[in-house]
Amino acid sequence: MHYFVSALFVLSVATCAMAYSDGAPAEVCDDMTPKHPFEPRKDKFPYTVAISKTSLASGQETDITISGKDFKGFFVQVRKGNKAVGTFTTNPKEVRGVKCHGTANSAATHSNASVKKSITLKWKAPQEKGELEVYATVAENGEIFWAKHKVGKITVK
Ligand SMILES: *[C@@H]1O[C@H](CO)[C@@H](O)[C@H](O)[C@H]1NC(C)=O
Repeated sequence: MHYFVSALFVLSVATCAMAYSDGAPAEVCDDMTPKHPFEPRKDKFPYTVAISKTSLASGQETDITISGKDFKGFFVQVRKGNKAVGTFTTNPKEVRGVKCHGTANSAATHSNASVKKSITLKWKAPQEKGELEVYATVAENGEIFWAKHKVGKITVK
């Protein structure tokens, strides 16, 4: 048991040091800020986030594409108020889902820390209608990252 607990501890410290090589954990659901031992950057967000459809019906999908300079990690949510809503399509190679605020796959993160030029996420609108906001955290690497940027709006009608 002791061995198990300390092995877990070593594992989590190692994971942290590698800056979430397999994506962000659920602990970051609220502030969308990686618990790396560095502060988020305050300068201009250097990425473009394109939303293919900003007005859609419940159950319809839109693409959300991050591009700009190369990056390794991301964490994206579409929020109603402070709550992540809707669901992202996941795939084992590129996109891992995170259960935030009670909904499985309501946040999307990287599944590995390879260098990416862009990533296209598919997000499905929830049953609940309303005005939603898209937030993105993007990490160039474990030290350099921009957290919880409001990058667009989506209306579910
Ligand atoms: C790592 O991620 C990249 C980009 O998201 C993907 O193309 C690649 O297949 C992934 N590698 C593995 C081993 O899953």
